[in-house]
Amino acid sequence: MIHWPTDLPPFLWGAATSSHQIEGNNHNSWTQWEEAGRHQGRIASGQACDHYARFAQDLPLFHSLGINAYRFSIEWSRIEPEPGQFDTRALNHYEAMIDLCHDLGMEPVMTLHHFTLPIWFAQAGGFLQPQAPALFERFVQQVVEHLGPKVRFYVTINEPMIYAVMGYGIGTWPPGHKRLRDIWALGPQLIKSHRRAYHVIKTRQPGALVGLAHHMVAFEPFDPHSVWDRASSKMLHYLFNRRFLQAADSTQDFIGINYYTRQYTHRPHVLVPIASKPGSFVTDMGWEIYPQGLEHFLNELRSFGKPIVVTENGIAADDTVRQQFIADHVAAVSRAQQQGADVRGYFYWSALDNFEWAEGFRPRFGLIEVDYSTQERTLRPSAAFYRQLIAANAQAW
Ligand code: NOJ
Repeated sequence: MIHWPTDLPPFLWGAATSSHQIEGNNHNSWTQWEEAGRHQGRIASGQACDHYARFAQDLPLFHSLGINAYRFSIEWSRIEPEPGQFDTRALNHYEAMIDLCHDLGMEPVMTLHHFTLPIWFAQAGGFLQPQAPALFERFVQQVVEHLGPKVRFYVTINEPMIYAVMGYGIGTWPPGHKRLRDIWALGPQLIKSHRRAYHVIKTRQPGALVGLAHHMVAFEPFDPHSVWDRASSKMLHYLFNRRFLQAADSTQDFIGINYYTRQYTHRPHVLVPIASKPGSFVTDMGWEIYPQGLEHFLNELRSFGKPIVVTENGIAADDTVRQQFIADHVAAVSRAQQQGADVRGYFYWSALDNFEWAEGFRPRFGLIEVDYSTQERTLRPSAAFYRQLIAANAQAW
């Protein structure tokens, strides 16, 4: 059993972002893919929210949400633009961000890999190249040496299974492969990379809390009476939700879960679930709202005997729907806690509207709205709602 350090807030109330989705003007595997025309008909990431230049105004705005923790990612392509060449200006930039988090009273939760890669690393085969774990370790080592003393929480890899499925199975993300065997090959490479990162961090900072952000989908049989549908939902649950989680078990100080929705398995498709049942309400991403799934997973994760952090949960929809969504999911967290789950954090995705990968800028996940033509930020009503909800629960949690 791993206990939550007593010098930390008992519960992290947070919001999350990732570098490529907000920073703007990145030059990485995703932009290279866009430039190569693989992203046809879709909006390029371009300037995104121009957050790299505006972080000093944005972080106080995030803090006005009432949060005591902020999850963000650092951009590997900025820090190591050429193999082995580390850019001190980029590291200093992130250090200034982290300092500001501390000044504002937000615990920084730093993700090391959130879907994008330096071009040199991608061109050499990305995480499929044999030396990938060693190269990732070298990057992490530099980061820890420079930023380590100021960061307590690390997420090594964001959503390894989504990264594998979208980039190597479905192919709508870079590098655009559609080969099941690549997903199989990628898994062990990502596990090795995570483990190396874990050990590098813990060697230098034994008190750090290191984990992953696992995307978990509540798979259910479309027809509960069908043996096929039931069996395939169990299989997908194992392959997509559990396999990586279990493989990384001994190198996680907390279990991070990104939870969004439920999906259905239905004959004859074994590995391709259906997003919703006909007629049900769906979000702007086409996803069903199903807070019970979060409660279920938090209870399931109790068996790991580790603190659990909801590293992401959020919605792209009308803002009134967003408020209900947050209320229902936070209530699910609370119920799971009452049943014994050691849940220590909830991070809403996302602090502000951002670049939603292959979907471009259409889906709006933000508590803060962004006008992309002027870069103006406006707090949505759900921002005040989240703030009140945090204030109301802060005493009890
Ligand atoms: C999880 C991913 O980590 C994030 O990048 C994405 O924007 C959200 N899900 C919403 O799809």
